[in-house]
Amino acid sequence: MARAITSSFDEKRIAGRRLCRRLVVGAVALGLLGLAGFAAFAWQPALPEIATPAPSSFALNVVARGAVLAAAGYCSSCHTVPGGQPFGGGYAMKSAFGTIYSTNISPDRETGIGAWSKDAFRRAMHEGVARDGSHLFPAFPYEHFTKISDDDVDAIYAFIMSQKPVHASAQPNALIPPLGIRALQAGWKLLFFRPGRFKPSADHDAQWNRGAYLAEALDHCSACHSPRNLLGAERGGAARYSGAYVDGWFAPPLTAANPSPSPWTSDELHAYLFQGIGQFHGTPAGPMSPAAHSLFVLPQADQNALVRYIASIGGGDARAGSAAAAKGLALQINATSAGRQTDPDARFYVAACASCHYNGTGVINPARPDLALNSAAHLSSPDNLIRVILFGIDTPEGAPGLVMPAFGKGFSDADVARLAAYLRRTRTDQPPWPNLQKTVADIRAQGKGVE
Ligand code: HEC
Ligand code: HEC
Ligand code: HEC
Repeated sequence: MARAITSSFDEKRIAGRRLCRRLVVGAVALGLLGLAGFAAFAWQPALPEIATPAPSSFALNVVARGAVLAAAGYCSSCHTVPGGQPFGGGYAMKSAFGTIYSTNISPDRETGIGAWSKDAFRRAMHEGVARDGSHLFPAFPYEHFTKISDDDVDAIYAFIMSQKPVHASAQPNALIPPLGIRALQAGWKLLFFRPGRFKPSADHDAQWNRGAYLAEALDHCSACHSPRNLLGAERGGAARYSGAYVDGWFAPPLTAANPSPSPWTSDELHAYLFQGIGQFHGTPAGPMSPAAHSLFVLPQADQNALVRYIASIGGGDARAGSAAAAKGLALQINATSAGRQTDPDARFYVAACASCHYNGTGVINPARPDLALNSAAHLSSPDNLIRVILFGIDTPEGAPGLVMPAFGKGFSDADVARLAAYLRRTRTDQPPWPNLQKTVADIRAQGKGVE
């Protein structure tokens, strides 16, 4: 009896071990099968090299159209190092995952894309796969470019292939292991990438859809203005366009949650995006500066369409009536703080800033952003305001011909923190920003060029 128990116990143990081994073998087999499946899924063929097409092989009007599209897609601002040769690559993009350098997309055969066919270029733009079959990182916004029509991609190809070849090898990326393995990007794509051309919405007219196409496909506004998840993919639904950090700046919400006291009406968007300064808002600085400046080239009809679409996201036109009240309040705050010379913070502000950012004329000066209206003072993050005070806004950056001086050299961290706290307290009804002085010190340490 005792033996029988032992033996059945042993048998159970052996059977248990066998089951366990079978499970392990099964799991390994499944794992291998999964890996093989993943490898098959991740694998993309290399496309053949071609003889570099002669610039004269493209129709001039197509090249001209491609030039406008490439400008609106900011190709050169990501594919050119500051002061470098256009499209030569090497521009560094930093993120929590490490640094990725843009590649050379000039028509150089050896170091650029001179040997790429139109099909290889289309595949890169629409699927994020390079000519040699390797997966590209989503720092290249192919999840937006996938929406660009074949016709427009071909025009961009014609333009790029007509540029001067730049001989410059790619800078190796510095990504946290194992993220540098390109095949893993196939997993990211499986989770987050939905390839496909732009589909117009039947609920809207042609102009709105044209604006949506420009914003979503080519201009990829949401790449900066939408927050991302832990794996770096843009969040959808209500989070879309709800504001996000980018290169040390905060790209404000473009939804109704935008905290500017004056609404983003179509007129204001027009002035901000295409004249470089809006009377009730300010100027596109930091990473928004190259984005806005690239849009200046869009034909009038496209500018109107883009504004129409963006204005519809925040619904600013419906609130156009509140602009007058915001303006009245701003002028009143201006007048009171100029008279409040017993407040040492107000005195400091008047000495440092009011020579430009104040006018007693009772009208808003469109060339001097009113700090009670500018969203930098109203955002949940003080970063934009601190950056503007520390580093200023150069001529090529803000509105054409205007300069906001940099105060970083003359002012201590405590001075800048004090000014920011003062503006927050007197120009907005928002809660004070915590740890201001530490934030100023951190931003100063990062320097102006965080890109
Ligand atoms: C936000 C920055 C950014 C913008 C804007 C951008 N690119 Fe890129 N692009 C990159 C980065 C970074 C890479 C390299 C990705 C990698 O190494 O996986 C890249 C890679 C590419 C490649 C693949 C090149 C190769 O050698 O594998 C092509 C083609 C390309 N971009 C074309 C364009 C075109 C055309 C535009 C404008 C319509 C554009 N890019 C706009 C960042 C950008
Ligand atoms: C490369 C990142 C980037 C891209 C692309 C980008 N933006 Fe911006 N945007 C920003 C940043 C950063 C700011 C804040 C700039 C400042 O404070 O001067 C900003 C500011 C703005 C503002 C002003 C908001 C406010 O309350 O002050 C508007 C409007 C805007 N962007 C619209 C757009 C539109 C429309 C597009 C696409 C055509 C776009 N942006 C593309 C980064 C970007
Ligand atoms: C010499 C004149 C001058 C002085 C002094 C000056 N500013 Fe400015 N400021 C400007 C101009 C001009 C602009 C618009 C810049 C542009 O469009 O390029 C501007 C823009 C700004 C903006 C808007 C940025 C945006 O993204 O819309 C803020 C915020 C700002 N200044 C804050 C300050 C503060 C705070 C002080 C005091 C420390 C100050 N400025 C002192 C001229 C000045």
